[in-house]
Amino acid sequence: MGASAAAGAVALAVVWTAAAQPALPPMCSGLDRSDGRGHFVARADLLRTEAAGGEALLALVNRSPAGALPPDWAPDDLVDLETGRPARWYRCTPPRKQCMRREAAAAYRAMAAAMREAGHRPIATSAFRAYRVQCSTFDRWVRRGEFCEATTVSALPGHSQHQLGTTVDLFTRAWVDGGDKFRPGYGCSDGGRWLEAHAHEHGFVLPYPLHPDYRRGACGAVPGGEERIDPRTGYRYEPWHLRYVGRAAALRFREAWQASGPGSPGEITLEQWLRREHGLRDAVAAPVCDGCNCDRCATFAEGDDAPCERPAITLDASGAPRAAAGSPRLEEARLVREDGALWLEARVQVPQNTLTQPPIVTPASGARFRRGRREAQLADRAPRAFPPLEGAWRLAIGFGEPRHGWPWRAALVRPERPGNDNGVQGRIPAAPGVVQLRVSMEGVSPGTLMRVGLVNGAAVTDARRLTAP
Ligand code: DAL
Ligand code: ZN
Repeated sequence: MGASAAAGAVALAVVWTAAAQPALPPMCSGLDRSDGRGHFVARADLLRTEAAGGEALLALVNRSPAGALPPDWAPDDLVDLETGRPARWYRCTPPRKQCMRREAAAAYRAMAAAMREAGHRPIATSAFRAYRVQCSTFDRWVRRGEFCEATTVSALPGHSQHQLGTTVDLFTRAWVDGGDKFRPGYGCSDGGRWLEAHAHEHGFVLPYPLHPDYRRGACGAVPGGEERIDPRTGYRYEPWHLRYVGRAAALRFREAWQASGPGSPGEITLEQWLRREHGLRDAVAAPVCDGCNCDRCATFAEGDDAPCERPAITLDASGAPRAAAGSPRLEEARLVREDGALWLEARVQVPQNTLTQPPIVTPASGARFRRGRREAQLADRAPRAFPPLEGAWRLAIGFGEPRHGWPWRAALVRPERPGNDNGVQGRIPAAPGVVQLRVSMEGVSPGTLMRVGLVNGAAVTDARRLTAP
């Protein structure tokens, strides 16, 4: 465990390293077996053996298979959050004993003091969580609801920023005394607002903010908004989850966040900022395949070892998507009018590991196109443009002659896919296999000459002409 493995940890460490591949801690071993409904995580995705640079304050730890820490990794400078005294990782078991890395703990104490001065009583309910502690945390959430529900609120072991030793769940006494601490509304409580306004002054960032699409008014969410997954982070709104990145980085992030346009569709989170800092071109990465999100996930596992029959994206050892097995093919396209509404129906053969990008224009997403506008009209939201991203395939729709271009684009996803991904501009997995697309269009008169094809960058393939009925 870390560079300075504690004497008491030796027995455990020996068990972990005896096999060629480390074993999972006992309380995690249920995760790599199906729960009976096809939900589980491939061993290859649970046992990342290579350290993901967890010592770095700007380490990228997220839902993607590549954003994981190994089971036997812990920081070696943990201290007791209250006393500041050095602490062994295996003794840090929240809520009994809270630990953070030395620098983060000092910053936490300064922030807590400032909070108290402002009239709040801070309560840190969970700080450092070792991999095995995250296993039991995740398992508790599963027992509270069910597996897929748990994945929306709790990170899989290895994927929690709490394992970094720089993250703390911070509430106030007034909030905790009011009921279930995870109930909606903390972000708009006095304590939550204080954190939003001042955490960065102490080097902390709120990595899981409320998505602009889910906000209402100066402070608050649309009904159910706080429980929805933010496509930028893969998690729900967590106004209590604070990550220490250092004062200078927190200020740099805040500047970048302000420049991205808070409240606008382009607003970034810490995830997008870190991805840029790490030189990654994608704004988001597909989460681990766990049987809950097949068609939109990624895995290190090969073939039958993965929970989904056909995981959308398989990764090479470096975490990069493997090359697609070929280019998508447009097999059939037709225009149909139903109750006055015009639909484009297309059948596309999509090879494994193909990437696509928003807009998601499916009946489930509520998005549609309107003649005279280039952007996708999103249900209850401002129209949004999604400029092409390198390597992403989409269905392209145009009018008249090819020189008039292809104003409308739609992601290669199944019709039942919700429009969540429209909340962020990024390359996302396309649905592998035969995809039957259904795209809604408005304002197109009967007899209009249209074109349909597949587009990747500037190249359009399989183009064909259709006439609107
Ligand atoms: N609740 C956050 C996502 C975690 O488990 O790390
Ligand atoms: Zn947390």
